[in-house]
Order: sequence, then structure tokens, then C-alpha cells
Amino acid sequence: MIPGASVGEVVLDVKEVGLTLEEHLILDGVTFQVKDRIREGITTGQVVALLGPSGVGKTRLLRIIAGLDAPDSGTVRGLQGEELPAGTVGVVFQDYPLLRHRTVESNLLLAGSIGGLSAARSEARTQELLKTFGMEDRAGFYPGQLSGGQKQRVAIAQQLVVPRRFLLLDEPFSGLDPAALEDVSKLICEVANLDEFNTVMIVTHDIRAAMAVSDTLYMLGRASKNGKHVPGAKIVGEYDLVDRGLAWQKGIMERPDFVALEHELRGLFRTL
Ligand SMILES: Nc1ncnc2c1ncn2[C@@H]1O[C@H](COP(=O)(O)OP(=O)(O)O)[C@@H](O)[C@H]1O
Ligand SMILES: [Mg+2]
Repeated sequence: MIPGASVGEVVLDVKEVGLTLEEHLILDGVTFQVKDRIREGITTGQVVALLGPSGVGKTRLLRIIAGLDAPDSGTVRGLQGEELPAGTVGVVFQDYPLLRHRTVESNLLLAGSIGGLSAARSEARTQELLKTFGMEDRAGFYPGQLSGGQKQRVAIAQQLVVPRRFLLLDEPFSGLDPAALEDVSKLICEVANLDEFNTVMIVTHDIRAAMAVSDTLYMLGRASKNGKHVPGAKIVGEYDLVDRGLAWQKGIMERPDFVALEHELRGLFRTL
């Protein structure tokens, strides 16, 4: 355990979530909890990753957590067991949902007005975020004029115009070059650490990138029987990287225990 680290209240409680689509069982009793990470003297939000192979049900689960879809069974609750009020969960989908005919600035302003902010508040938040995200000189650009990493940054900024406790990112690393991946990873940690109770959940099949930014990994997968997958994914593994001393440290990716865990997860992944 990293010195000064502990856990507090449950900030997200996913219980027995089940989903069937067109008679196919997709999710079967998905259960996990995210707890507040506490670090002496530092404001630390949570960065957690939901890992799993392609097609296993990650995006479907993310939509349920965000309140966009209802599960067939089970519950999703936040702090103190309360339902997550509509609008408290921001989601960034894979295909950067920026409006093509609007500039970066105008995309952010629109997010503010849709989210119920006054024009003045929306303007202030937009300028603040452009600055925080180093995009001031891109304010007048259209999405088509941005790189993949820049688009990802604006898409994340767009979800932060209205302050939110939860930010869910679906495959945030796909299509990014190594430099952009590093930028986005850094940004994810910064966003989480803005508030003690903030939680960023990334949904990905990129084991290495997930390990590099997260404090907890949840593995979503299916069991096998006679060499065939049993329908219905559940959480098949939880890895506390703080407990293992693998979170919040520079140069972590070169450490032998990091590499060993990555190898272990890769092996497990192939069976799911
Ligand atoms: N509308 C739908 N009807 C039937 N099956 C669906 C539908 N949408 C997704 N699925 C199936 O649900 C499974 C999980 O999809 P998804 O959550 O997108 O996977 P992941 O994000 O892990 O790649 C996939 O096998 C997919 O074929
Ligand atoms: Mg997906």
C-alpha cells in the first residue's frame, strides 16, 4: 500500500445489473463498487477502468451507468446509496460527439446552455476550460480542423462545462498517437483530481493504457464451458493498483511488477 492512502465511502455502487438484448443475455449480475480514494494532504478523485475484450458488453454497461439505458435487473447508485440524478454523469462516446458545423468554442457554449447554465456562466466556464485544456488558440477551429487528441480533449471539456461528479469515457485512447495518448491520460488524472469525489471511468480494451492511469481495474468477461463462452458478462476480476503500489507513480510502466501484471491480464483477457 502506498503510504497515506486509504479508501472511504462508496461513490458508485453497481449491483446485480443484468441486460438482455433481442433474447441474447449480454450482462449477467454485474456487481462492483467504486470507493473514494483518500490520500493524505492531496485531493484525489478516482480513476477506474472497465476492461474487457471487444463485444463483451462494456459500452452497454457504460450506457446503463450513465442512465441512458435501463437495465433489465439490478441497480446503479451513487454516494450514500442515492440514485444518480439525471445530468450528473457525463459521457464521452468513442466517436467524439462534436457538432461539425460549430467551432470548438461554440460546441462548449452549447453544452452550457443545454445544461441549463446562464449565458454568462456558460461563457465563463467555456473560457476557463479552453485555458485549462490548452485550447485557447483553437477556440475558433471546427472539429474537422483538429487532430484526434485535440478532438478528444474538446469532447472531454464539453462534458465538464456543467460540473459533474462522474465522467465516463468510452475507448478514450482509440486512434491516438503516443503523444496524444499521454496528453489525454494526464488530462484524465487532472479531471479526476479536481474534486475528492470525482470519478472518471474509462472503458477500454487497452490494458497497458488503462493500467497507466487507473487506481482500480475491473475486468468484464464471460466464463467458458467446454471451450465455449457462457452468455452473460460479469466482473471476473478486480485489481487494486494502489494496494499493489502501482498507481500514482512516475515511470511505473517500466517496473517489473507492472509488466508482470500486464502480462497476467493479457493472459486472462484471451480467455474472456
Ligand atoms: N441493439 C442490440 N441488439 C442486440 N445485440 C446487441 C445490440 N447492441 C449491442 N449488442 C450486442 O451486445 C454485445 C455487447 O456490445 P457492446 O457493449 O457494444 O460491446 P463492447 O463495448 O464491449 O465492445 C455485443 O455482442 C453486441 O453484438
Ligand atoms: Mg464498446
